[in-house]
Amino acid sequence: MQPLFLVALAGLALCALDAARAQPARDATPAWTAAELDILRTLTLSSLPRPARDPSNKYAEDPRAADFGHRLFFDTRLSANSSVACATCHQPARAFTDARPLAVGIGVTPRNAPTIVGAAHNVWFFWDGRKDSLWSQALASIESPLEHDMPRARVLDVIRANRDLGADYVAIFGALPAQGDREGVNRAFANIGKAIAAYERRIMPGPAKFDRYVEALLEDRRPAPQDDLTLDERQGLRVFISDQLGRCLRCHNGPLFTNQHFHNIGVAEPQRQERAHADVAQSILAQGRIAGAEIVLADEFNCTGKYSDARPGECAELDFIRRDSPELLGAFKVPTLRNLTRTAPYMRSGDRRTLEDVMWHYRTLPQARVGKSELNDLPITATEFDQLEAFLRTLEGQIDAPALYLRPPISAQAK
Ligand code: HEC
Ligand code: HEC
Repeated sequence: MQPLFLVALAGLALCALDAARAQPARDATPAWTAAELDILRTLTLSSLPRPARDPSNKYAEDPRAADFGHRLFFDTRLSANSSVACATCHQPARAFTDARPLAVGIGVTPRNAPTIVGAAHNVWFFWDGRKDSLWSQALASIESPLEHDMPRARVLDVIRANRDLGADYVAIFGALPAQGDREGVNRAFANIGKAIAAYERRIMPGPAKFDRYVEALLEDRRPAPQDDLTLDERQGLRVFISDQLGRCLRCHNGPLFTNQHFHNIGVAEPQRQERAHADVAQSILAQGRIAGAEIVLADEFNCTGKYSDARPGECAELDFIRRDSPELLGAFKVPTLRNLTRTAPYMRSGDRRTLEDVMWHYRTLPQARVGKSELNDLPITATEFDQLEAFLRTLEGQIDAPALYLRPPISAQAK
C-alpha cells in the first residue's frame, strides 16, 4: 500500500473514533427525567425556608441586636491582644473563611474554619457539633485560648470601658452587671453571643449558576447562556445525584448540600497543632460526634440551660439527641458545598488544598484512624470525578445579606 493512502486511512479511522467518542458525551446528557427534576428542585435555594426560630435566643430577630452583633463580629477589642476578631477567621470576601488550613487567632487552632454563610440553618455547631446554637458557639470562640482568649469577665470589662460598646449594650439589654457579679456577668456574656447570632442569622447564600439553571428547567424555559450548565457540569450533577454513581446525596442534600448530620469519612486529624492550649483536649476532639454530643449536653449555655430563653419542651434537638452509637465515633458534621471556590482549603483538617484533592479523597477512600469510614468504592471514572468537580463550581453565588453587613462597621474602619 502507498504510505499516503495509509495516512488517509488512519485519518479516517481517527475521525470515526472521534465521532464514536463524541456520541456518548451527547447521549450522556439527555433531558432530565421527572424523578431527577424532583431531586434538583430540593437542591435549589428556592427550596430553602427561612431559618427556624431559635427559641433559646429572644434577640435573634431584633435588628438592633443584629447591628450590635455586626460591630462585635469585627471588633478586635474582644481579644486578649486586641488583634483578633471573628472576622479574622471568618472574612466576608472569602465566604466567611480565612484561606488557611488551620485557623489562627491567639494560637493555631486544630481545625479549618468553616463558613458561617447559612449557618442559621444548622442544628449543631462546630465540626463535632459541641454547641447547639449560634449564640453559645460565639461564646466558645471568645473564650477559647486559641481564638480570642478572653475570659467572660474581661469581655464585660471591655464593654463597660468603651462608651460605644456600653451604650449599644445598655440600649438593647439594659444595665450592665456590676464587676464581680458572676451570675450577672454570665447573663450579660450570653447576651453578647445573642447579638452576634442575630447578625449571623442575616448572612445567607445567594443564588448560584446551578440555582438559575434549575429554575429555568422547572419553568420549562431555556436558561440564559451564562446560566446554562456545560456538558461536563451537567454530567457532574448527574453523577452527584445518582444513587448508583456518586451517592453524594446520602450526606450532601437539601439547598445547603448538607443533611446536618455527622458521618465518618476517614479524614485524619491535622498534623500541626498546639495541643497544649486547646480549650478541648485534642484526643477528645478527634473522637468527633461521640464526644461532641456529651459536651453539648453538659454545656451551661445550651438550649435547656438557665441562660437560654427557651421554654421547657422547646429544645427538641437536645432532648432527642443521638449519642452513644458506635458510628458517631470519628464522625464529623457534613459541611455545606456552596461557595467552595472561595473556601479552600478543605475538610476539617484543612489539608486538601483543592477540590481535586477532595475528589482524590473520595477516589482513594483512606481508612479511618478513629472509628470506621462509611465511604464505599464508587463505580465512577476519573473523567466523572473531574465532572463532579466542575459541577461543584456551579454552586458559587453572591452572599445574600445587607451590603453593610459584609463590610467592617464604620467605627472599626476608623480605628
Ligand atoms: C482563630 C480563628 C477563629 C476566630 C477568631 C473565630 N472563629 Fe469561628 N471557627 C473557627 C474554627 C477553626 C471553627 C471550627 C472549630 C471546631 O469545629 O472545632 C469555627 C467555627 C465557627 C462556627 C460554626 C460553624 C458550623 O457550621 O459549625 C461559627 C458559627 C463561628 N465559628 C462563628 C464565629 C464567631 C461569631 C466568632 C467571634 C466571636 C468566631 N467564630 C471567631 C475559627 C475562628
Ligand atoms: C457518608 C457521608 C458523605 C458522603 C456520601 C459524601 N460526603 Fe462529602 N463530606 C462528608 C463529611 C462528613 C465531610 C467533612 C469531613 C471532615 O472534614 O472531617 C465532607 C466533605 C466534603 C467536601 C469538602 C467541603 C469543605 O468545605 O471542606 C466536599 C467538596 C465534598 N465532601 C464533596 C462530596 C462529593 C462530591 C460526594 C459524592 C462523591 C460526597 N462528598 C459524598 C460526608 C459525605
